Amino acid sequence: MSDALASRPGSSGESARPAGGHLTGGPMDGPMDGPMDGPVYLDYNATTPVDPQVTEAMLPYLTAWFGNPSSSHPYADRPRRALADARAQVAALIGAQAAQMVFTASGSEANLLAVRGALLAAGRPRPRVITQATEHPAVLETCHALARLHDARVTVLPVDGDGLVNPATLAAALDEDTVLVSVMAANNETGALQPIAELAALTHARGALLHCDAAQAAGKIPLDVTKLGADLLTLVGHKMYAPKGIGALYVREGVTLEPVVYGGGQERGLRAGTENVALAVALGAAADLAAHDLATGAPTRLAHLRDDLHRRLDAALPGRVHLNGPTGQRLPNTLNLSIDGIHGHDLLAAVPAVAASTGSACHSGTHTPSPVLSAMGLDTDRALSAVRLSLGRWSTSTDIKTAAAALISAALTVSHPMPGLANSAEQATS
Ligand SMILES: Cc1ncc(COP(=O)(O)O)c(C=O)c1O
Repeated sequence: MSDALASRPGSSGESARPAGGHLTGGPMDGPMDGPMDGPVYLDYNATTPVDPQVTEAMLPYLTAWFGNPSSSHPYADRPRRALADARAQVAALIGAQAAQMVFTASGSEANLLAVRGALLAAGRPRPRVITQATEHPAVLETCHALARLHDARVTVLPVDGDGLVNPATLAAALDEDTVLVSVMAANNETGALQPIAELAALTHARGALLHCDAAQAAGKIPLDVTKLGADLLTLVGHKMYAPKGIGALYVREGVTLEPVVYGGGQERGLRAGTENVALAVALGAAADLAAHDLATGAPTRLAHLRDDLHRRLDAALPGRVHLNGPTGQRLPNTLNLSIDGIHGHDLLAAVPAVAASTGSACHSGTHTPSPVLSAMGLDTDRALSAVRLSLGRWSTSTDIKTAAAALISAALTVSHPMPGLANSAEQATS
């Protein structure tokens, strides 16, 4: 593995993609040949390509080593060992023990297991859960379902202009009925890093548990469950170069949860169903690669590229480019910008050379501002002008130059008179 790792772009600091050409020996061979002839991929927070080393690690468990790890004959041996190894690899990425990891079918499911599991297991009438406004819908909607179906009380904390929770606000909201506080490590749209350790200390002082959705943080910044003080922590495969359909939940020992799937007792009885060994192996391999990235300077490399992109846009569009989210307390790969005078969706539509996203939703041709940016107090025009540019393992300086040139050219040529922006804004909020 180390030879292959040595040739990865994260370790050399430069491109694996020949300018304008196909990759050879890189991650975009095989199924990715087509798309990578297309736009520069700056949407790593939406999903990552599967690292070829991850694919290589998992494939034998779809072919030769197909056995059920719970069987009592030799076909089970290799899958059982692989599952145990994968659990240890994933645990190691967050400073946990293998026995503390529960594999799930997605990040959403891990969040459901944590939030619903903790609230129902508490066995209290009208349990309280505290979360915050910029959480992923997998957490927010779970909380609302618990209110609807189980009489839970839900407190959604506000955030400041950078999208951060003020610990004093949490301290004031905590009470003796609070069972769980759920706050994400890093926001998917802005990359804002919440002060988890501080929030966890306050939470524990009131006898409640802290769940941290680390879907976006895992592999991008170092994480240690003990230092964070997390009792429950969510990881997601497809944000860290494993396939979609695998996640994991760290469950500190002593924490009792109601299962998310009932049945055969797999995954410590918390998530029944014959284990998906191949995807667990993939997540284990991805965790190993992520640990290597973190140890070899990938976050610094990405932060440089990201800041170079920001500088280029700022220099070419003076006074029009506004960063959404914190400058410093942010994931190294994430750049959420509003460019005055053009909606994010119009900008991206005019730039087929770049694959990125806006946080806004489109319903019947009307764009609604991102709830995350709205919660941060951004006005409708600013929120509708946002684009999220997220970099990853195969982002190169050539990509950044190409993307910056294309975005600048579109922002200079496609512009909307402000009344047009205002009209759309009215529609969006009506
Ligand atoms: C912060 C965060 N939490 C949870 C999820 C959900 O993960 P999954 O798509 O695996 O259900 C995502 C995915 O976008 C996310 O960004």
